[in-house]
Amino acid sequence: MKKLVFASHNLHKLEEVRSIIKGFEVVGLSEIGCTEEIVENGLTLQDNAKIKADFVLNRFALDCFADDTGLEVEALNGAPGVYTARFAGEGCSYRDNVDKMLRVMTGIQNRKARFRTVICLNMNGRQYFFEGCVNGEITTEIYGDAGFGYDPIFRPNGYDETFAEMASDVKNKISHRGMATRKLVDFLNGMK
Ligand code: IMP
Repeated sequence: MKKLVFASHNLHKLEEVRSIIKGFEVVGLSEIGCTEEIVENGLTLQDNAKIKADFVLNRFALDCFADDTGLEVEALNGAPGVYTARFAGEGCSYRDNVDKMLRVMTGIQNRKARFRTVICLNMNGRQYFFEGCVNGEITTEIYGDAGFGYDPIFRPNGYDETFAEMASDVKNKISHRGMATRKLVDFLNGMK
């Protein structure tokens, strides 16, 4: 089976994309011997996805894809966006971010938010981008303990549960990353 590198150390993400991408063996950064943290200092999700995919291409000469995700909260004018991972400060935990979001959103009625993922693929000397997005709302407290990141406080539109209360296959079906990954899969299938 052809190998495809996913430029991530995040085991949750790897598991999610592996369950969607069939026909390729998706390998993470540690499996190609890359232990470095890639510095994500782009100004957009697209920039950061490109930085990660280009890092693998330049350092390891391997075809690769990378994703970057942002949580965009309407009442915060789209923040934290590209700073989603570091919302509560450099080196913060998922829990720190969740706690900060609940604190910042206290008393705010408009709780509309969306997750947006951009995937950058470097393949056969060319570069491609795919995007996925899911609309929802920030809950007023934590619900569920599955998933990662902001999952316990993000409830997608049309559902009564947060991402952290859902089975992983349900989350993958509707999530930002699921949508972007399926676009990537369609593209890869079209290349065969
Ligand atoms: P990354 O830079 O793409 O790894 O994502 C930035 C941050 O967004 C992560 O540190 C997580 O806190 C959050 N995040 C990304 N994807 C998800 C998700 O599917 N659910 C909840 N939080 C996520």
